[in-house]
Amino acid sequence: MTASRDLSKFRVLLVDDDPECGEFLASVLEREVAKVTRAKDAEKAMDILRLESFDAVVTDKNLPGKSGIDLIKFIHECYGSLPVILITGQGSVDSAVDAFKFGAQDYLLKPLDDPEILLRTLWSVVEQHRLENENKLLQQKLIHAEKMESLGMLAAGVAHEINNPTSFIMGNIEMFKDDLAQSIVIFKSLQTALEDLKSGDPGRVKKATEQLKEIGESPVLERMRNESTQMLDDAMDGAQRIKRIVGSLRGFARVDTQLMEPVDLNEEVERSLTLVWNDLKYKCKVSKSLQQIPKVIGNPSQIDQVLVNMLINAGQAIDGKNGHISIRTYQDHSRICIEIADNGKGIPAEHMEHIFDPFFTTKEVGVGTGLGLYIAYGIMKHHNGLIDVKSKVDQGTTFVLTFPEGDING
Ligand SMILES: Nc1ncnc2c1ncn2[C@@H]1O[C@H](COP(=O)(O)OP(=O)(O)O)[C@@H](O)[C@H]1O
Ligand SMILES: [Mg+2]
Repeated sequence: MTASRDLSKFRVLLVDDDPECGEFLASVLEREVAKVTRAKDAEKAMDILRLESFDAVVTDKNLPGKSGIDLIKFIHECYGSLPVILITGQGSVDSAVDAFKFGAQDYLLKPLDDPEILLRTLWSVVEQHRLENENKLLQQKLIHAEKMESLGMLAAGVAHEINNPTSFIMGNIEMFKDDLAQSIVIFKSLQTALEDLKSGDPGRVKKATEQLKEIGESPVLERMRNESTQMLDDAMDGAQRIKRIVGSLRGFARVDTQLMEPVDLNEEVERSLTLVWNDLKYKCKVSKSLQQIPKVIGNPSQIDQVLVNMLINAGQAIDGKNGHISIRTYQDHSRICIEIADNGKGIPAEHMEHIFDPFFTTKEVGVGTGLGLYIAYGIMKHHNGLIDVKSKVDQGTTFVLTFPEGDING
């Protein structure tokens, strides 16, 4: 279905220095669009773009000073996907190719006798732009939905991982409270003994000496000496574990979808492992070899999403004893790699070409959605990275994620 053309809300920036052609284009556009703003050269157009927003730019290629191609480059750099139509003379097909290369959506050849062609092209580029934006939004929603699905799957395990330290922190605090209560009793006895000693009264001095002996032999003191510090250290360890788990969870669930920053992939491996740990620890051995690697430019939450899915997949592929997952990070020339290998059931050759397809899953409903690798592929593409996979049935699968080295001193 094609929506019928409605340009009535469009705002167009028209850049043309030729009075005749400019007038003609403006009159064609003004018939249907909401607002036409005109600029006579690229510099003026750039100034206007800094102040106003538009749905599309129509520009001549030959302008005084900076050319239409320069303007396209500027728009592409500063305003991303704002649609641009380049108007160029006959025989300038090369510049039309350039225009596409630098980000124009379409071009029209002069002389432009048929006004309908301009209006149709304008409608089509703006519609395409709208659809691309809609698509991007849907893609983001899909990424989020998959993340929520993983979170749902991890929730029970994460709750368990938090519950454990919480229980022993509470237990230790209870014990410490008991010890504290008894130490207050002891402290009071010490005060009495001190007063008895000070009194010089032989009866009271004798009583105080016996009391001090008793206190000295008290098992509470002995226990406090040996265990209390340990108990508090353990409670602190437990609290730190909870903090780590909650931190990983918060990082994973973060919604600021696109922000790119320097990322230490080793940290992301640790965080992702924290989240899936409860799901893996009863099933298999997990070994890590994390080398010192430079940071990459990436989105930590998205990278965690890739890693969590790969680790869950690896865990789900392992069935029975001697399961093993090994995670390795290393640098290979200018590329930074994470390898996740399992000795699970492997991927049959006939499935291999489909594993990155959306909704391809060999798992039961509720276990898999078939979106994990599809989304992982998209995320890695967004990071200018790659996913490599090798697998042998009944022997295992190895995924390698490759990132370009970040352009930073990390
Ligand atoms: N480590 C692995 N071992 C075996 N099969 C795997 C592995 N990783 C992925 N697969 C296969 O690829 C399919 C798609 O994976 P994915 O996109 O993560 O979706 P899901 O895990 O929801 O099924 C899985 O259903 C499984 O058949
Ligand atoms: Mg999966």
